[in-house]
Parts: sequence; structure tokens; C-alpha cells
Amino acid sequence: MTMTVRRLTRAATAGLVAAAALTAAAHSAEAADTLGSAAAGQGRYFGTAVAANHLGEADYAATLDREFSSVTPENEMKWDATEPSRGTFSFGSADRIVDHAQSQGMDVRGHTLVWHSQLPSWVGSLGASDLRTAMNDHINGLMGHYKGEIHSWDVVNEAFQDGGSGARRSSPFQDKLGNGFIEEAFRTARAADPAAKLCYNDYNTDGVNAKSNAVYDMVKDFKSRGVPIDCVGFQSHFNSNSPVPSDYRQNLQRFADLGVDVQITELDIEGSGSAQAADYTKVVEACLAVSRCTGMTVWGVTDKYSWRSSGTPLLFDGNYSEKPAYDAVLSALGGSGDPGDPDDPGDPGDGTPSCTATYTRTADWSSGYNGQVTITAGGEPISSWTATVTLPAQQSVSALWNGTPTWSGNVMTVRPSWNGTLAAGASTGFGFTVAKNGSDAAPVIGTCTAS
Ligand code: G3I
Repeated sequence: MTMTVRRLTRAATAGLVAAAALTAAAHSAEAADTLGSAAAGQGRYFGTAVAANHLGEADYAATLDREFSSVTPENEMKWDATEPSRGTFSFGSADRIVDHAQSQGMDVRGHTLVWHSQLPSWVGSLGASDLRTAMNDHINGLMGHYKGEIHSWDVVNEAFQDGGSGARRSSPFQDKLGNGFIEEAFRTARAADPAAKLCYNDYNTDGVNAKSNAVYDMVKDFKSRGVPIDCVGFQSHFNSNSPVPSDYRQNLQRFADLGVDVQITELDIEGSGSAQAADYTKVVEACLAVSRCTGMTVWGVTDKYSWRSSGTPLLFDGNYSEKPAYDAVLSALGGSGDPGDPDDPGDPGDGTPSCTATYTRTADWSSGYNGQVTITAGGEPISSWTATVTLPAQQSVSALWNGTPTWSGNVMTVRPSWNGTLAAGASTGFGFTVAKNGSDAAPVIGTCTAS
């Protein structure tokens, strides 16, 4: 195993870093409210997923540093990034995020140690005994490098199938090591860093359903047999197909009642405006109603870098303006954010025109589909907007309405035809018909710009 000298350096500084984080939280509680300081007032953290390659972007870093008290590396701690070939660890990108977080007094969530996805092919080709050794070496390699620096680790991620069966998902670990791989991973993790909270993390487990029942049964079994587990992460990726469940709080509470913390780990909610804001409020209120819900993490800083960017699911738009969802979260956290503060980007009176663009497929047939892009003005009235639609290479647009297109390759830039002027918060949109030509993939909607 190749272990860098940073391991020693990191471990030696960890105590100082923890003290710095507490000091920063105490200071920020007195300053103007932000997501992190308002959540700290409720005894919670408020975090975000971070990508190392965006840290050099001034607005990205400024928003991150101002608002959040915890970070989760979005991809940089995954197996393919950290141990691309057996025994050779590479921590460069993850270290950048951890160093940045520590310099700002933020805590770090570790994501993730054992997962079927983003797994290098060498792992899948091992026999059972070798795979067990490799899994434990991987856990020890990561947790050793960051010992004392991670508040919670997603030890095992997404080990259960979707759908009604509540069965385990097929993976090299499940298929070769059987059900016991999960508890083995947790036992190894406890020994590797006894100070870190050890979490099981999954999606579509946010309400009471067959999948969450299966996870519940596993956690209950672990607690009864003394398998070390401290928390359950609820990813909470929501959209119209998977809305915030009405029994979300109840579900968090039943897990907490097993004697584990619960955390909302990858929150994003597709949509815009007041409907999106109301959904975010439901999530924050559910966490605050459960005393063992120790914190929330949104899955990205800005809509433009979200894994679901066309669904604009986050709290800051592509221009880093605060969205109505931001004001709703801050308010639900008890923050004294002033939605009408002209000094706040995105609030009425800030003088900065902004807009968001959201996409839906409104009709679908074998050879084509209709798409609709909704343009919504931010906190200022706007007189014009521009949105880009990048089509998969095979597809072509046969009709477009309520907008004026210009083309560059497969990128269609759309400006208003008659509908450029919008009041603050008002919406318009354009539609188009696409010939699939063999590709059913969705177009990618770029950042909306306004003047
Ligand atoms: O970095 C490469 C880039 O060099 C390359 O040009 C490009 C071409 O596709 O790919 C880039 O890597 C992408 C990476 O994100 C960074 O942007 C990968 O293809 C892409 O697969 C990867 O997606 C990540 C996804 O996990 C992979 O499973 C998303 O960013 C990340 O948000 C998402 O996060 C997951 C959680 O870990 C677990 N829960 C669900 C959640 C959402 O899918």
C-alpha cells in the first residue's frame, strides 16, 4: 500500500482543526445569518457537496465559504478516485477539498467507502477472499489518511435494490461476500477511525416503503448484535416522480428511535419558485422535528453544476443568486435572513437581473418529442433572457415556438420572440419539437442569463 506522508500531518493537525471549526461556528452565529450559522443555532450542520475542480471559481468559493458549515466531496473520495489500482492511493483532489474546508472552519463528511458504482474494474475481477482483503484495505487506507478529520463516513452506500422487494443489490461485494459484507465494512471502519460516525447511506428510503423497511431491519439487527453503526443517511433526491414523502419525518423518527443519528445527505429538489421553496421547507422542518437529525447536506452549491442541472434543484441559481428555496430554508432554520435585503444577491432591489431555466418533456412518441423550457425571472424585473439547449448529436429540432433560436453545432441558443419582459419572479417559456433520429436522450439546458 502506498501511503503518503500527509497521513501523519493530517492526523497531527486534526485536533486543532476541530477547535477551529467550533470557533468559526460561534463567530458566525453573531454575524449576518447564513445557512451554516442558522443551522448551528438549531444544533445542526448545513453542508453541501463540493467538486474540487470548481474551488478555483471565485463566486463558487465565496458562496461555499459564506453559507456552509460542512462539505462532502461529490466524487473525490470514491473508490475510482482514491484507489484506481490496487494498493496505490491518490488523495490529491480529496485533500484539496478537505484542506479548503479546514481553512474555513468547515467540517467534512466522507463519501463513500464501499459502493457498487464508480468502482474500478480491478475490484470486480477479484475472487472472494482477495475482495474481502481489498475492501478492508480500502477502508483502512481512506480512513487512516483522514483519521480524526471526518465527522461522518458513508461506510456503505446504496446496498439495497430499488422496487418492492427490499432485496440486496447485486454488486461484487454482495455477490461474492454475501450479506455479511456490510457489517464487516462497519467493523473495519470502527477500528480505523473510532471518532468518526459510521453511516449507511441510500436513496428512495426517505419515506416508509419496502426499501426503507429493509434498511430499517438491517439497522435494528446491527444495533441488537452490537455491529457498530451510528447513523443512517437519507439522500433525498426529489423531483415530480419522487416527491418529498408525506411520512418523511415519521420515517426519520423511526430510524432515530433505533438509537442512530439520521442525516439528510444529498438533498436536492427539482423545480423552481415558491413550489420548490415549499418542498425545501418540508425537508428542513422534518429534520428539525427529529432531535437525532444532526444535519443536512445539499448536493451542490449551484444549479449549474448539479448532476441534475436541467431540473435546477439547488438553493443558488447559475449566477449564485439566492433562490426562493434559499430564503425558505434560511427561514425554516430560524435564520433572520431578510428576503428583501437589496444587499443579498437574488433579492428584490439588488439590481442584478437574473433568471432560471427548467426543462420538461411535454410529449413523447417513437420518432420524436416536444420539450418545454420555462424561464423564470429572479428577484428583479428583466427585459430579456438567453437560454441554451444542447441536443444529443443525432437529434434535430423541427419546430420552435415562443423563442428565437441561433445555432452553433448542436447547441441552440434561444432568445425571446415577444416574451422578453418579465416581472420579478414571473415566468414565460419556449417549446420545441425534436426528431430523435435514434437517440432518446434528454437535452442539456444551460445557465439562463438575463438583462
Ligand atoms: O471528471 C470526468 C471528466 O473528466 C469527463 O470529461 C466527464 C465525461 O463524462 O466525466 C467526468 O466525470 C463525471 C463525474 O461525475 C464528475 O463530473 C462522471 O462521468 C459522472 O459519472 C460523475 O457523476 C457523479 C455520479 O454520482 C456518478 O455516480 C455525479 O457527479 C455525482 O453527483 C453523483 O453523486 C451520487 C452520489 O455519489 C450517490 N448518490 C447518488 C448521487 C447522484 O447520482
